[in-house]
Amino acid sequence: MKLISALILLCTATAALADPFPTGNALAGQKLFVKYDCNQCHNKIMKGDGNKIFTRIDRKRNTPEGLIEQIGMCGGNVDVHFTPQETQYLAAYLNRFYKFK
Ligand code: HEC
Repeated sequence: MKLISALILLCTATAALADPFPTGNALAGQKLFVKYDCNQCHNKIMKGDGNKIFTRIDRKRNTPEGLIEQIGMCGGNVDVHFTPQETQYLAAYLNRFYKFK
């Protein structure tokens, strides 16, 4: 029994450590995403559902760092300079698509 509890503890600790956006918050990120209408261009690029830009086979960003960098670049597209915290929020939201561990 003790061993099982220890194992469960170990697993949750590892999962917490592995979170690529530890200070992120997907819900706050989604609000920003909607507020700045982030998919306005992506919808056009993907000819429909802009979210598909995050899961297409030849997507550009394949690391958490790359995603952070792209959020900074695309923030410029909507004339916003996201704070590091806002960037974490957006990354946590977008990680629903990217699924970085
Ligand atoms: C002015 C148009 C425009 C706006 C607005 C815009 N984007 Fe983008 N976004 C692009 C383009 C262009 C690409 C790159 C497409 C390519 O290279 O194939 C892109 C790509 C991305 C990618 C990378 C997709 C991949 O291939 O992995 C992310 C992440 C992203 N945008 C996030 C955002 C976020 C967050 C916002 C809102 C703050 C936003 N974008 C607003 C034009 C825009």
